[in-house]
Amino acid sequence: MILEGKHIVLGVTGGIAAYKAVELCSSLIKAGAEVQVVMTPAAVHFVGPLTFQTLTARPVSIDTFQLLRDTDMAHISLSAWADVLVIAPATANTIAKLVHGIADNLLLSTALACPAPLVVAPAMDADMYAHPSTQANLRVLAERGATIVGPDEGRLASGRIGRGRLVNTSELLAAIRATLGRQGALAGTHVLVTAGGTREPLDPVRHLGNRSSGKMGYALAEAARDMGAKVTLVHANTQLPAICGIEMLAVETATEMHQAVLERVPHTDLLIMAAAVADYRPVQRAEHKIKKDADDLTLQLERTLDILQAVADQRTASGNPGFVVGFAAETQDLIANAQVKLAKKRLDLMVANDVSGSDSGFEVGQNRVILLQPDGKQEVLSLMPKSEAAEHILARVVELWRRA
Ligand code: PMT
Repeated sequence: MILEGKHIVLGVTGGIAAYKAVELCSSLIKAGAEVQVVMTPAAVHFVGPLTFQTLTARPVSIDTFQLLRDTDMAHISLSAWADVLVIAPATANTIAKLVHGIADNLLLSTALACPAPLVVAPAMDADMYAHPSTQANLRVLAERGATIVGPDEGRLASGRIGRGRLVNTSELLAAIRATLGRQGALAGTHVLVTAGGTREPLDPVRHLGNRSSGKMGYALAEAARDMGAKVTLVHANTQLPAICGIEMLAVETATEMHQAVLERVPHTDLLIMAAAVADYRPVQRAEHKIKKDADDLTLQLERTLDILQAVADQRTASGNPGFVVGFAAETQDLIANAQVKLAKKRLDLMVANDVSGSDSGFEVGQNRVILLQPDGKQEVLSLMPKSEAAEHILARVVELWRRA
């Protein structure tokens, strides 16, 4: 939702990757943003302005003087209109000119006058990218606060393999979202989110696990990043792609997750435990694959450490995390069971999800949750995409945290 209604100036420069800006433009429009495309004169050799004009329902800006005659979208008004200026792809030439304040086309003069944050996605030949001038120029832009995204390594237009490819659209979108959210309600905070389901090994090929996909935790991590937080995501056994702009830390077992979380607690302002952590693990892990010799097999299990309980104890001493959110996945007596966990684990907010149905909870893309506060207040959220549920949860967290 962070892109909805946002004014995005999309600068397209003259490189073979210019055609990929079409997909970015279309994705931004689909996400509800208003997009004004500014092309450099070189870019129009690679992709037709009509394509962007059709997608955005706005005339594409190319020539400063043409513009001044035809519309009021001169570089100054474009700069003032923008919530963010995105240059994708950005050639080595444009990057160098941005550094030196050269304004010899409409995109560059817009950039020079633009107070909005800048996202630069370099795309060029690998040698041009590796050249010390380009490297130094990118460092300068980053030092000035620009978000530099990519480039990726892979097959280049020349047929060579190297670093210089424009990053994919989802990474560009993530960078734009994160840049827009830089001054958000969680700016300056460290947020630690856990996601996925831990696995407790029985032997080298088998484990005890659960159905958590990680979707809920990933949505929370992304939403926290979009609100300006520095986010670490401790994820267990998920198949989801890494999230741009977030520190990703993979673990497998409850013990590994316990260790990863406890190590980071002293530097964490907000902890959100969305992971489904095993409560029991096999007492013994067989060294070799267990054979089916016997008719039945009894497994002896022992309790794992409760991470939230340990956080509560450590928190008393250090004060961090300032706010702790737990999740409760229940198939019966949802509120009563979740309230017991809220109190026992000394949480600031409990997110209770009924996982008995097939349309919410584990694996699926949406969730139906109830937010429980320590003072007994409850907030029922209807079935909604996990991304939206994450935004609701974080909005409530910010409100309660500020009040505390
Ligand atoms: O990953 P998805 O497919 O998107 O599914 C999301 C989800 C259903 C897994 C998620 O929304 C959820 O409910 N996560 C918590 C599931 C769970 O394990 O609940 P619990 O009631 O067993 O645990 C209560 C809380 O204690 C949880 O915050 C859990 O992370 C934490 N816990 C549990 C065990 C343990 N040893 N240490 C813990 O800290």
